[in-house]
Amino acid sequence: MKKLLILTGGGDCPGLNAVIRAVVRSARRSGQWKTWGSIEAFNGIFRDPPEIKRLTRSSVSGIHVRGGTILQTTNRGNPLDYPVQQKDGSWTTRDRTAELAAKIRSMGFDAVINIGGDGSQRISQALFKEGCPIVGVPKTIDNDLSATDLTFGFSTAVQTATESFDRLVTTAASHHRVIIMEVMGRDAGWIALHTAIAGGAELCLIPEIPYRVDKVLKRISKRYRKGKGFVNIVISEGAKQEGGNVVGVKEAGDENIKLGGVANALRRQLENAGCEAQVRTTILGHVQRGGIPVAQDRVLASAMGVKAFELVQQDQFGQMVAFRNNEFVSVSLEEAVRDYKAVHPDHYLINVARNLGIAFGD
Ligand code: F6P
Repeated sequence: MKKLLILTGGGDCPGLNAVIRAVVRSARRSGQWKTWGSIEAFNGIFRDPPEIKRLTRSSVSGIHVRGGTILQTTNRGNPLDYPVQQKDGSWTTRDRTAELAAKIRSMGFDAVINIGGDGSQRISQALFKEGCPIVGVPKTIDNDLSATDLTFGFSTAVQTATESFDRLVTTAASHHRVIIMEVMGRDAGWIALHTAIAGGAELCLIPEIPYRVDKVLKRISKRYRKGKGFVNIVISEGAKQEGGNVVGVKEAGDENIKLGGVANALRRQLENAGCEAQVRTTILGHVQRGGIPVAQDRVLASAMGVKAFELVQQDQFGQMVAFRNNEFVSVSLEEAVRDYKAVHPDHYLINVARNLGIAFGD
């Protein structure tokens, strides 16, 4: 029997467990492969003794309906930039990819399936270059990977955001308030754009279209007559004012800036600009990443898991599964991590939103 290792890296996302289950079931059906999972991405392999869990049909039974990942995950301990403490107590980083590839080999694994976002697939690519037989599966709620039309987790995040938005509409209407709801998405406005259309927002502010406070205020004023009216705004965490910067913090040990708080920044900007309506904010945060995956994400994730195992069986290593033009295909890991998929200001859904009367503050 051949040995297959599965792992999940980076931020979690609804649908990860459905991929794991699909890989384990396909492998079992093949009658040629046994499956294991590394705990907390590559950290499980580095640990002494390694934290590797045997995955059987019964250990993955029913997990497709559960959020999170049974293998746990981390966005720390990137093997390309591994934090190492020096003798004097200070920290530095070093590339441990070659060591990791050697360890995977020495443990007797014939293939690895790495389920993760762009950061994780960069690691896959580096491991592949070191001779590791690896296949990538894309995941992110942000839907910002250019190699695939859709990532699982995105639809669940949009559903959660839309349900929250619907609730905020009734309270905004009752109080004649402006309510700003901040959603995730990093530097891409996909979650915000889909939620604004689904929920029927008055304004949608995304990173790709910097907003002007005077324009936002103008749209708000149009909705108020004699103190009556209400406005619901969806703002993406990476949105910024024209000529301004994103709102967030960079903490020691973090690879990326932690975005968050732009809804409150906009509230202050509106108040300073003389907005007469009461403004309230809601930052949805990680609620968008948790919980039960919607049916579409379960299907997408299951199909991607089956496709990933097919690639393993065909020795198609150095590839990542992708969903393009309604088909499950594969792209090289090199291509998979090349470009970031932001919302192009000419994207058809921007046109849809504008036709529905949604303003972008530009
Ligand atoms: O990439 C997914 C994502 O949820 C982003 O939308 C968000 O900016 C980031 O991860 C949050 O990361 P963390 O869980 O590390 O705070």
